[in-house]
Amino acid sequence: MSKIILTGDRPTGKLHVGHYVGSLKGRVKLQNSGAFDEIFIMIADAQALTDNADNPEKVRQNIIEVALDYLACGLDPAKSTLFIQSQVPELTELAFYYMNLVTVSRLQRNPTVKSEIQMRNFEASIPVGFFTYPISQASDITAFKATTVPVGEDQLPMLEQTKEIVRRFNSIYGDTLIEPEILLPDNKACLRLPGIDGKAKMSKSLGNCIYLSEDPEEMRKKIMSMYTDPNHLKVSDPGQVEGNTVFTYLDAFCTDEHFQKYLPEYANLDELKAHYTRGGLGDVKVKKFLNSVLQEELEPIRARRKEYEKDIAYVYQILKEGSEKARAKAAQTLDEVKAAMKINYFDDMELINAQIEKYSDK
Ligand code: TRP
Repeated sequence: MSKIILTGDRPTGKLHVGHYVGSLKGRVKLQNSGAFDEIFIMIADAQALTDNADNPEKVRQNIIEVALDYLACGLDPAKSTLFIQSQVPELTELAFYYMNLVTVSRLQRNPTVKSEIQMRNFEASIPVGFFTYPISQASDITAFKATTVPVGEDQLPMLEQTKEIVRRFNSIYGDTLIEPEILLPDNKACLRLPGIDGKAKMSKSLGNCIYLSEDPEEMRKKIMSMYTDPNHLKVSDPGQVEGNTVFTYLDAFCTDEHFQKYLPEYANLDELKAHYTRGGLGDVKVKKFLNSVLQEELEPIRARRKEYEKDIAYVYQILKEGSEKARAKAAQTLDEVKAAMKINYFDDMELINAQIEKYSDK
């Protein structure tokens, strides 16, 4: 069986370092591992519109931002197909058929949908399109016969929903769809990188993000303002590393080589943490180290972004060609789905002949 990746992001803003460690970095690795036969990376504009129906301009403007961030991180259009969801109308058609396989109460139980409804104050007025986006996401995944979906932890309920739809579809209509596996980062700190204020989620509206395209000086300032241990007042005080954002970021980003390069008095992060816990290590020193680590990690990403920014027309061309390629693949799956559901009337000679027969002796 072919190994196929499908994943994507909503274009509602520039991507941040949470997206990067949560999924993007892993995608680039998977891409370059050569272990996959096909890789599809989708800019989920149609999904973004499910809760931004009144703000299409925001979605439209951010398509290029997300594409630039993708390319900057090292997604390579020669190896990965980058495309825009709305340009593959087959996805919508698939979703319409899958809707018959999912109950309202099942959608109501989806934890991601639940928390998003709360976050957006949708309680009394949930748009139907928003409510059903897990079904549309199942279409995205199954249309490409994806075996592997590298995403952040928050997408787990979407994958569960997709698997249920696949099983139900296959049991009713015969084996047609592929059950996908979620692929999460193995580093726990990468699962959900907190915002610089220590809040659980990095989000544009909370203003606590470090963007991939962040200017170096801006990033330094953000790191120096990061939430640490509120009880670690004097350098000599013992400090806490759990729930300390700076250490969570180090967990996600730093390697032993970084210590050799920037902080050779420690062999590794364990030693640094031990010193902090004991007391005698100030926040500023740890923050400066994190800054060196992050600047090194993001520098090549910024540089590549600048190159692509010089040729925006080319970036649109990449998306256009990617969307055409994605559409061909999704159309093939849709044909198979319709055949399995027996709604391929004009290709079904058996049906047509049987009807001819039925009426021939009348
Ligand atoms: N829900 C994802 C996000 O919020 C975007 C997305 C849409 C997606 N369809 C997908 C991710 C299919 C993985 C697979 O960013």
